[in-house]
Amino acid sequence: MDGNHLDNDLSRVIAADKANVWHHLFQHKVLEENDPRIIVEGKGMRVWDQNGKEWLDAVSGGVWTVNVGYGRESIAKAVHDQILKMCYFAQAAGSVPGALFAEKLIEKMPGMSRVYYVNSGSEANEKAFKMVRQIAHKKYGGKKTKILYRDRDYHGSTLATMSAGGQQERNMQYGPFAPDFIKVPHCMEYRKHEHGMEHLEGEELGIAMANLIEEVILQEGPDTVGALCLEPVTAGGGVIEAPEGYWPRVQEICKQYDVLLHIDEVVCGIGRTGTEWFGYQHYGIKPDFVTMAKGVASGYAAIAVMVTTEEVFNMFKDDASDPMNYFRDISTFGGCTAGPAAALENMRIIEDEGLLENCTNMGARLRGNLEALMEKHAVIGDVRGKGLFMGAELVSDRDTKEPAPEAKVQAVIAECGAQGVIIGATNRSVPGRNNTLCFSPALIATADDIDKITEAVDVALTRVFG
Ligand SMILES: Cc1ncc(COP(=O)(O)O)c(C=O)c1O
Repeated sequence: MDGNHLDNDLSRVIAADKANVWHHLFQHKVLEENDPRIIVEGKGMRVWDQNGKEWLDAVSGGVWTVNVGYGRESIAKAVHDQILKMCYFAQAAGSVPGALFAEKLIEKMPGMSRVYYVNSGSEANEKAFKMVRQIAHKKYGGKKTKILYRDRDYHGSTLATMSAGGQQERNMQYGPFAPDFIKVPHCMEYRKHEHGMEHLEGEELGIAMANLIEEVILQEGPDTVGALCLEPVTAGGGVIEAPEGYWPRVQEICKQYDVLLHIDEVVCGIGRTGTEWFGYQHYGIKPDFVTMAKGVASGYAAIAVMVTTEEVFNMFKDDASDPMNYFRDISTFGGCTAGPAAALENMRIIEDEGLLENCTNMGARLRGNLEALMEKHAVIGDVRGKGLFMGAELVSDRDTKEPAPEAKVQAVIAECGAQGVIIGATNRSVPGRNNTLCFSPALIATADDIDKITEAVDVALTRVFG
């Protein structure tokens, strides 16, 4: 910590925070007796708090966001130069970085063609939902309005995205929700017994799990279902990758019943899963909508986008004589140029530094280390994920798969913290299932960083579970 631009004594900041800030997803009672954690500075994989304590960040800013790591001067400079020249104009007009980032992004997404700028993952998902509803009215006489979402998936914190929320603990007490959002079952191999599929493996299992979606479509009536919204790898719901065979079958089902496929890449997008730019690209599927946020500019600016195909785009310009016949939507801050300026530079860094490849290699190391810990700690029931996006599910009993108590999972996080390593866990997601440790270090992680993270987990598991 250089302390250059900040007072070393942050007591005023702490007092201001305690008096006036309402933190996210946080029970504040604890701050009556304790100070909040204020993160003052970051460089690479590390951050420093108000006490000068150094932390190794294994969760990219807490919520899988800072993909290229902290303290990137070139992104700061790109944003600085851009906002001095032209900070904002409503997105009914274009901007220089908006056009250039859209072009660069589309190069990475064969089959997609149009980029809609917004501010958050929730908002990007809402835009796709609105388009699905408008398409239902324009093309299907108002019938195909239903949007399917999956148990354990999360699409945001607004009321419409919570209506498509598969994590009950996020939703409780916030209803009633919007109509015509319909849940389909999860695709989690480790808990396949919940679907009575213990006897199935591999591709057969994947196909059977995808067929659960078809069952819902048939129950609801295919002429009422407009879209299916899925995370490529479920994040906060437990870091869940679908079994082999799932995605090709999902694609077939969507085609067969004329259901638009909306892939939520808010976490997976921009390299998090390694090798490919997007999670869905591992599975050879062709979405109609792709939404992304978090890693798009690694948190250096607030930017999210919704990307569609030219086919979807064309549905909104077919009759220019009708004043209602276009996407009548706006997002004020979708016109901020800082977002695409930062996103362009973020993408350049990922390309020039070979971070997709590093993510694959370091992800394999992280997986290997966690699997090795499984040998030692019976409490690890399952290790899963893709790239630098891994989860380790903690269970009290490997045979029954009884989830480990949440208090103990939290104690593991605290014990990692005591060693200066920040890890995460599924948090207020599915009742009784806040038991998966989450790891999402920046894509710049080195072998040494990965080993430090898993060494801390090893010590923490021993301290908490013996
Ligand atoms: C998969 C997924 N979709 C959407 C969102 C919502 O994004 P935001 O918090 O930017 O609104 C999140 C946030 O965690 C997410 O994990």
